[in-house]
Amino acid sequence: MKLSNTRITIIGLGLIGGSLALALRQHSKSMMAVDLSARTRQLAVEQGLVDAATDDLIAGIQAADLVIFATPVRTMLRQLKELRKLPQPDHPVMVMDVGSTKTDIMQAMMLLPDCYDPIGAHPMAGREWAGVEFALADLFENAAFAITPLHRTSDGLIALAKEIIATVGANCLELTAARHDRIVAMTSHLPYLVACATAHTAGDLGQRDQAVGTMMAGGFRDTTRVAASDITMMSDILFTNKTYVKLALAHNRKILEDLEEALDSDPERMLSILEKARADRVGYYPPPNVKTGGQQLRINGNRPALQGTTQVPGDKSISHRAIMHAALSPAESKLLNVLRAGETNTMIRCLIRLGVSVDSSGSTLTIRGGNWRQPRTPLDCENSAATLRLLMGALAGQNLTVELTGTPALQRHPMRRLAEPLRAMGAEITGDSAPLVVKGQKLRGITHTNNVASAQVKAALLLAALHATGPTTITEPGPSRNHTEHMLGGLGVDIEADTLQVSLRPSGRPLPPTVLMIPNDFSSAAPLICAAAVLPGSDIVLERIGINLRRAGLLKVLRQMGSDIQLENEAAVAGELIADIHVKYAPLTATDVSGELVVRMIDEFPALAVVMSQAAGTSTVRDAAELRLKESDRISALRTEFAKLGVDVTEYPDGFAITGPQSIQAATLDSHGDHRLTMALAIAGLLADGQVIIENADVISESFPTFADVMRSVGAEMELD
Ligand code: S3P
Repeated sequence: MKLSNTRITIIGLGLIGGSLALALRQHSKSMMAVDLSARTRQLAVEQGLVDAATDDLIAGIQAADLVIFATPVRTMLRQLKELRKLPQPDHPVMVMDVGSTKTDIMQAMMLLPDCYDPIGAHPMAGREWAGVEFALADLFENAAFAITPLHRTSDGLIALAKEIIATVGANCLELTAARHDRIVAMTSHLPYLVACATAHTAGDLGQRDQAVGTMMAGGFRDTTRVAASDITMMSDILFTNKTYVKLALAHNRKILEDLEEALDSDPERMLSILEKARADRVGYYPPPNVKTGGQQLRINGNRPALQGTTQVPGDKSISHRAIMHAALSPAESKLLNVLRAGETNTMIRCLIRLGVSVDSSGSTLTIRGGNWRQPRTPLDCENSAATLRLLMGALAGQNLTVELTGTPALQRHPMRRLAEPLRAMGAEITGDSAPLVVKGQKLRGITHTNNVASAQVKAALLLAALHATGPTTITEPGPSRNHTEHMLGGLGVDIEADTLQVSLRPSGRPLPPTVLMIPNDFSSAAPLICAAAVLPGSDIVLERIGINLRRAGLLKVLRQMGSDIQLENEAAVAGELIADIHVKYAPLTATDVSGELVVRMIDEFPALAVVMSQAAGTSTVRDAAELRLKESDRISALRTEFAKLGVDVTEYPDGFAITGPQSIQAATLDSHGDHRLTMALAIAGLLADGQVIIENADVISESFPTFADVMRSVGAEMELD
């Protein structure tokens, strides 16, 4: 039975029952509640949670196709027992519970008469405050929602439970009752008891010393939060899960005893217990992306000769595309050497909210996608233009309406150049910059010419083209990067590409899964290449860097200027060329960059500007107005920050000129919220006559979180904190 045809009765309108009613009412045929409290019933009807409410269990069941028990666990056990004796409904009724323990409940469900089709369920969601007045429609968004079917549970009910879980925005997980109870004893019931013991202990001391309350801060608040939970609910849970709760307590007590012993006599042991605990906690809750604001990058300008062999992280552009393509495939893909940084983590978070399953272990991702679901709130693309654009393209042909938003910096990025051709394909898009709403439609292929060469726009249009009827052809004024073409071609998509044109003929089938090894990022290698090119005595090797011709224009320009750059161990990985890039210092002369070369090195100009400041003569960059529309206005930000370093830059509407060599002075600079600019300024800092400080430098973590470590590994002195 589909949810839209299902009459639901919720038994017990507390926080969970009320929130389920709110989240499901619009999607079900009807929504009724059974609750003993007249006030709760009145509130629920008045506030539109339910169509009707009664205190009569039999009437509630008789009116339903699906009954959801959301009472405290022991009440529920009693009610399930009663059902065996009460008059039976005149039609088959599905029964689901949302109780926090499962073994006892599933046993009671097993004994229900045949007219009932039972399943257990448990959403891992809650709030500090119980009661229907605290109900929230999005309480279950992104939460785990376990189901525990019995042998007698019908396939139809399992499918309906999954539909309900997807509708409330949660992630379904199938468990046996015993496994469920063992896990929640550890993750939920033990923390509750530990919080109670901690609150209790502090309260005892607080009776004797009034300062206890004043000295409580965030740590105490966080670790005791759940001690404020509803006591009836919690004691029901503890008594119905006694065996596993006692096992969890015993395990915990043993660790506390070890800690106590170690405190007396074994500092080493203490450290190792704490270290394991810290790693466990950080593993389950990785620190959030660091946002701009706060961190400083301090660089010692002692002109180090950079030496050694090192690696930079996986390619950002290829990671974005690989993650997106895997997310469109219903089968399981494995991606290796994925960039794990602010930008790509943003993409992953958005896709998870669209129902894509992403398991990660460092830079290895296992992704299963396909059937995207409607998120309840806007997707936050944060600082990532690639996330926003690729999502616009991929959503244009899906039967979803999704608002995409992001930081003020992202809202500056031009989206009309993508929104217009997507509209021409039939998509409904409100807004020409973030925040914007994409309402997916049936798409038709188009023939389109981009006014500006942009790989992101091209990649996004190709994603839309996959979901269109008829072929799409895109022509560009310059040769933008072609990773999408390589990857989709590798997945068997009918795609034909030459320098300035690409055509895609959709098959109407979903993308197949992939296993892909991602090359290291040329744009992350660029600041190191440029640093070695200008620091006398330098000799470094950067391993396994993607050298796709449409990305590696910087190498051509540097060689033009006299750089000593060799490519070693050239190979092909997943349709992309890679090589170790060997750079040695050599004296440099000025050069000019314009025309199509600009497109082939669009992200490398900040680093190249540092090289130009050290090369003899006047270097110019023209035809690069696009630089004004990146994470910052890279032309004006470059001139402003270089001026602080004592380096003159002449600004043009579409580029800049620098006459070298110029000496560089110590200064305090600003990141302008731009990761590539910040890394280039750090390279300039190595050439300075003292210390250079870059404020708000944590933005580097958008693409290269380990930048300072990698720079140190080849002999630079810089610190981010
Ligand atoms: C990128 C393309 C370029 C580049 C950006 C990444 C991509 O942007 O500046 O860092 O992944 O396709 P545009 O497509 O806006 O030129």
